[in-house]
Amino acid sequence: MKAARLTQYGPPSGISVVDLDDPEPGPGEVLVRVHAAAVNYPDVLIAANQYQVSAPLPFTPGSEFAGVIAALGPGVSGPPVGSPVAGAVLSGAFAEKVVLPATALRPVPEGLDMVHAAAFHVTYATAYHALVTIGRGEPGEWVTVLGAAGGVGTATVDVATRLGMRVLAAASGHDRLAIARKLGAEAGIDYAGEDLKSRMRELTGGEGAHLVIDPVGGSYSEAALRGLRRGGRFVTVGYADGEIPRIPLNLVLLKDAVVRGFEIRMLRQYARDAVAEGDRVLAELVREGMRPFVSRVHPLADIATVLTDVAERRVTGKVVLSMTDE
Ligand SMILES: NC(=O)c1ccc[n+]([C@@H]2O[C@H](COP(=O)([O-])OP(=O)(O)OC[C@H]3O[C@@H](n4cnc5c(N)ncnc54)[C@H](OP(=O)(O)O)[C@@H]3O)[C@@H](O)[C@H]2O)c1
Repeated sequence: MKAARLTQYGPPSGISVVDLDDPEPGPGEVLVRVHAAAVNYPDVLIAANQYQVSAPLPFTPGSEFAGVIAALGPGVSGPPVGSPVAGAVLSGAFAEKVVLPATALRPVPEGLDMVHAAAFHVTYATAYHALVTIGRGEPGEWVTVLGAAGGVGTATVDVATRLGMRVLAAASGHDRLAIARKLGAEAGIDYAGEDLKSRMRELTGGEGAHLVIDPVGGSYSEAALRGLRRGGRFVTVGYADGEIPRIPLNLVLLKDAVVRGFEIRMLRQYARDAVAEGDRVLAELVREGMRPFVSRVHPLADIATVLTDVAERRVTGKVVLSMTDE
């Protein structure tokens, strides 16, 4: 099979596409023929060995995919060969075949094709739980979404709008803000040129946002926290900026604010009821027509360029690699 491969940690330019033997599913595992794999910012961090968990060298990057079951390992009774499935792994998805534990498989929501199914689970589950399970967002509340044209950002704008929240999208530049506006954001803040805190106050009638969802970090986080209203909630989701912000704690005291964070893989372990409810709500929204915003589809051969674009802030929404000609 064709597979992306890294023999040393570093920038995406070090990734090549090679021929490897097909992997074999062990006990409790399944082999999936990958049709499409979505690119996520953490794939850049894993390639550079800057993620919370290391992938041992050499390895095939890629964490999110959709495809069909090609074989079942010993002790696995289903889903049957040929069933459409999606899944998330630490590595291995940027390949024509991937092996993973059967328990890590996710269903393909009814109505999604392989490209959109590959781009769905990580960002939409992250968006839902940031907004609802952790952020306690309610219909009618103002939510500021940072990085609103990115993968997590577009999903968060989409889900928040569909759940009746009022979205202030924050991103760099008018073209990126236009994407968030199309997904339902009521207003946009160009945080590359405008003052985030004052614009959040102005656009919410002087009081500030009820909730901030922050997948970006850096200097934007403190400005967004300052733009919260009294009793507001701030959810830290990620640090695409590269800098983990250090925020004066007195801001939390003065605002009577709540600051929370979560990691989606861990949340799946400790909050099973909330995860089941999230899956139910998201499946319903997909039935109503919700689709991830896929801005580009590339062949596997483009992997190094695509990941470089993600690392250098040049992509919007989701970029997907297609392993088939369909
Ligand atoms: N907590 C969790 O469970 C969880 C789950 C999924 C992802 N994450 C994290 O969330 C973050 C965002 O992931 P994503 O997939 O949405 O990434 P993405 O699609 O690349 O979007 C990140 C956004 O951040 C903004 N940004 C600001 N400074 C940047 C920089 N120096 N380099 C790159 N982007 C920059 C960009 O928007 P502008 O140019 O408009 O500012 C970009 O659209 C990552 O840190 C990821 O690890 C966390």
